[in-house]
Amino acid sequence: RKRGAILISGGGSNMVALLEAARDPSFPVEFVAVVSDKANAGGLAKAEALGVKATVFERRTYGSKADHEQAILDHLAAEGVEFLCLAGYMRLVSGSFIRPFEGRIINIHPSLLPLFPGLHTHQRAIDAGMKVSGCTVHHVTEGMDEGPVIAQAVVPVLTGDTAEALAARVLTAEHKLYRTAVTRLFGAGTATDDRQMLISLG
Ligand code: GAR
Repeated sequence: RKRGAILISGGGSNMVALLEAARDPSFPVEFVAVVSDKANAGGLAKAEALGVKATVFERRTYGSKADHEQAILDHLAAEGVEFLCLAGYMRLVSGSFIRPFEGRIINIHPSLLPLFPGLHTHQRAIDAGMKVSGCTVHHVTEGMDEGPVIAQAVVPVLTGDTAEALAARVLTAEHKLYRTAVTRLFGAGTATDDRQMLISLG
């Protein structure tokens, strides 16, 4: 199995979904490290509870973005990490961070990209009058929420939806989609993947 790490900034529910999926030895990735840029990220304790070492790298500890990223890269190299999942990591990564993981660094975003990149995606989807929204797993490039799409799941936008209600519905789909996308990336289980995508249509 590939040695993976997960980068988080917050509650880490997608991280938990990935760590739980990786308990199955047929999952193509074994997660050996979690990294957070926030010392108060709720996901840190959840990672430790699931037996994965979690380390904090706060941006303000370092003199520059380059130093911050290099410290994370050094840590990942020391852990022998070869594959990176961004899961609610709310920081734009630079080309020099991506380069050592080219093709092996992916992100999840709570919209049907290229629609609604960036923040406040759910409110923007509602305001645009969308009848569906969803989530996207994509390769990470230097642009924010850009990069080739690996997998997407669709959920309905319901009449009277608030951003919070839609976010919760999308987040449930994210948890399924992220493990499906990782499996797809490594070339297994396509038929099951496609069925999972339909299930997330509700
Ligand atoms: C998720 O909805 C994820 O897609 C989003 O932040 C949330 C993190 O939740 N990411 C982005 O908006 C990145 N542009 P989690 O910490 O519970 O996984």
